[in-house]
Amino acid sequence: MTSDIRTPSLWQRHRNHFSVGAAVTPATIKTHRELLTQHFNSLTCENHMKPSILQPIEGEYSFEAADAIVDFAKEHSMLIRGHTLVWHNQTPDWFFLDGGLAADKALLLDRLKNHTKTVIDRYGQQIYCWDVVNEAVEDQGDVCLRDSKWLKIVGKDFIKIAFEIAREADPKAKLFYNDYNAVVPKKRDKIFGLLKDLKEKDTPIDGMGIQGHWDIYNFSEDDIRKAIEMYASLGLEIHITELDVSVHDWMEPSSLKKPTAKMIDLQEKKYDEIFTIFREYSEVVKSVTLWGVADDITWLDGFPIRGRKNWPLLFDEDHQPKESFWRVVDF
Ligand code: GLA
Repeated sequence: MTSDIRTPSLWQRHRNHFSVGAAVTPATIKTHRELLTQHFNSLTCENHMKPSILQPIEGEYSFEAADAIVDFAKEHSMLIRGHTLVWHNQTPDWFFLDGGLAADKALLLDRLKNHTKTVIDRYGQQIYCWDVVNEAVEDQGDVCLRDSKWLKIVGKDFIKIAFEIAREADPKAKLFYNDYNAVVPKKRDKIFGLLKDLKEKDTPIDGMGIQGHWDIYNFSEDDIRKAIEMYASLGLEIHITELDVSVHDWMEPSSLKKPTAKMIDLQEKKYDEIFTIFREYSEVVKSVTLWGVADDITWLDGFPIRGRKNWPLLFDEDHQPKESFWRVVDF
């Protein structure tokens, strides 16, 4: 499973366009070390900078796993995207509780301040940007914000306040809002409205993270272009933060042990098209992060159907470049 030095480096190929990142864990920085050091110049912790891991119990931080990833990044001169500070998921219940009852706004914001400051102080400028708020927008219906404990306890200003807290803790980091389905017109328009409002209220926000959990079937180049243009029109930098291209339709069952020729073919075309668009917009698209490294380990093996094998990345289960990889570097 060694990498071939004759294979062009994904990040070096894109060095005049954007940084190329991967989501990692303390395990994959070991098992996928060669691919990571050859092809990526940015890392995101897949889970280990989320509140549930960093501060599982109030005041008891556990930084070992995140430290290992930050040290690895430093050793290899890689950037780090911080992910994430405010989210409805993977945030321990104690954040929202006060002796069995719901915490009030002052207490919750106090905890957010402590958490943000402690985490940001620990890593300082090693983390050049943060996904400050993750997935706050509702997919269904006409309401804009997702029903969450953040919204219930703090009110709709929680997003603006979270950015202000992050800015105070780190005057230099780039601060991002991050979400999925961010190119789907209905949700895109809601996110755009939210970001416009934040900008009009002078919120210290620098960028929009388009997650990019896409698949080979449901895909529109026009939607991607339009979303990039709309968010960029607000003066925001764009990062593609969690890119993978599933070979399955959303809830379609499958017991395949290998992708079909049709899947492989469609995936190559998608990756080719996606990266072509990113390069075209590289004035505003400054970072592209894949959500994983190689097809042997992907969260999509367990989501949304447990046990359904998926092959969503650019390197195969043996860590070899896939045809999709060659299409991406061929420009
Ligand atoms: C979301 C989150 C990520 C991660 C993925 C699934 O997109 O932002 O942190 O949990 O889901 O792996």
